[in-house]
Amino acid sequence: MKVKIVPSQHAFEVAAGETVLAAAIRQGVGLPYGCQDGACGACKCRSIEGAFELGGYQPKALSDAEREKGFLLACRAVPLGDLVIECPELPAAGMFPVRKMPCRVISLRRAAPDVVIMRLQLPANEDFRYHAGQYIQFILRDGTRRSYSMANAPDSDRQVELHLRHMPGGRFTDHVFGAMREKEILRIEGPYGGFFLRDDSPRPVVLLASGTGFAPVKAIIEAMRERAQRRDTVVYWGCRARADLYLHDWIAAQADELGWLRYVPVLSEPKPDDGWTGRTGLVHAALMSDLPDLSAHDVYACGAPAMVEAAQRDLVARCALPADRFFSDAFTPAQS
Ligand code: FES
Repeated sequence: MKVKIVPSQHAFEVAAGETVLAAAIRQGVGLPYGCQDGACGACKCRSIEGAFELGGYQPKALSDAEREKGFLLACRAVPLGDLVIECPELPAAGMFPVRKMPCRVISLRRAAPDVVIMRLQLPANEDFRYHAGQYIQFILRDGTRRSYSMANAPDSDRQVELHLRHMPGGRFTDHVFGAMREKEILRIEGPYGGFFLRDDSPRPVVLLASGTGFAPVKAIIEAMRERAQRRDTVVYWGCRARADLYLHDWIAAQADELGWLRYVPVLSEPKPDDGWTGRTGLVHAALMSDLPDLSAHDVYACGAPAMVEAAQRDLVARCALPADRFFSDAFTPAQS
């Protein structure tokens, strides 16, 4: 079976029982996506021709009205014959091959009471390439997966940095925060995701993060620094209290050094002994009050789904941000 994408006219094969998205990723076709799980709606596209079956999904990812209009979720749609879908494609350079490989934990550092910075060593014989901002998945023994954004720009040491928040009671992060030791071997697969800087835009950049959503923002800043780019960039990082801004000194130092970068930390619940004199409240509200007109910006948002959803809604409706200039990392954050 074949799926054709319009307007690009690209076509690719889909095996029996395979979803449109799985086939696209397998063959390096740049469909947009996030969670791969019917939860985020990032892979939504419209069917123009042909029949398909749609597996289970969350209503917020695809409304009944959208479904009636022919929209589908590529991560859940299994074609029943040839299919034509309407969908914007990611830049061709966006697609690196997805690989599965073992990796070794080389360091675990507690950066905040509930955040660990993990570094992984990838095998020397694997050609693992990714864009700053993309994510990998851990494949656990029972086959379930956990998604984490890479927090460093690709480097020649073949190391990957991840920021993990403890979800008490969750099997994976309980292990990370408990018995996990350096040298442990884990299995990963990636890179995944369409959350990376669009280099073809000259517009100023807003990087909006909450909590450990800072990880891909850090990777993007590192990549921009390496490329000696000059686009005006501002980072808004929202957390609860001062201790949660676990790389505050790092990002503040980057902003001091790089003329094109500004940093605005925002705390929603500063503690009395934080001595906080900076911004308070919701991080996307702080952005809206500073930059009420975002019609000439590109916005990249990553973090708690509630923050990303509110930012998308409000920045487009109230700050004139064109909807196609809001990029978000939409994978379902690991709950365990
Ligand atoms: S709903 Fe398909 S990728 Fe998230």
